[in-house]
Amino acid sequence: MKLIIANKSHVKYAQIISDTITESAKVRGTGIAKRTPEYIQKRLENGNAVIALDGDKFAGFCYIEVWGHEKFVANSGLIVHPDYRNQGLAKKIKKRIFELSREKFPDAKIFGITTGLAVMKMNYELGYKPVTFSELTDDPEFWKGCQTCKNFDILTRTERKMCLCTGMLYDGDKEKKVIKKEVNSKAFKRLKSIKESLFLKKKTNQ
Ligand SMILES: CC(C)(COP(=O)(O)OP(=O)(O)OC[C@H]1O[C@@H](n2cnc3c(N)ncnc32)[C@H](O)[C@@H]1OP(=O)(O)O)[C@@H](O)C(=O)NCCC(=O)NCCS
Repeated sequence: MKLIIANKSHVKYAQIISDTITESAKVRGTGIAKRTPEYIQKRLENGNAVIALDGDKFAGFCYIEVWGHEKFVANSGLIVHPDYRNQGLAKKIKKRIFELSREKFPDAKIFGITTGLAVMKMNYELGYKPVTFSELTDDPEFWKGCQTCKNFDILTRTERKMCLCTGMLYDGDKEKKVIKKEVNSKAFKRLKSIKESLFLKKKTNQ
């Protein structure tokens, strides 16, 4: 398995990456923003993405997105092909994209939003902390990316204050002294189920 910083030669993988994200969103049912092949193609070309290849077979992907004039960067679109899951690949990709973010944007805060426990665990181990959305970028372009998520109405209803996703932030210098920690999975599961009962119940009652 090779983990590579993507370049133009990887544009041919844009379609399978987009399809794998769409399929996974359907299976998971919790809402993942859609990413078109054209959107993925741009991320493959600009030197801000990591692709994992098994020979020439697509195995995994993640990209860096810059927001608020480089004040923030997000590590987004993490996807591992179903054939390569549960072997620690996402963890390796996350670590590599995190290192790349630190190298290329040393002054930026790194953040992500997710409903996935796996991603929360990995972020937490890298030193991210759960935060309210008010701590994240207010760049409207970032939040526009949520429009294709099936929970977008919740984000709109709460005036972008909260949604089913949890915001997680790595605040550069503040986190330097963080020693590897284990995530409290129970707390995250509980938070997710509280949000689901709160928001999804309201929705059906309307
Ligand atoms: C989420 C995903 C990227 C994980 O990829 P993976 O290569 O199987 O993950 P890893 O094997 O590296 O596991 C990393 C950690 O997450 C945990 N994990 C993996 N899948 C999990 C799941 N479905 N639920 C809870 N924890 C999970 C692993 O146990 C591991 O934790 P540990 O170090 O404490 O053992 C992959 O399942 C995927 O692509 N899913 C669909 C897309 C998605 O949900 N992307 C995130 C959008 S926010």
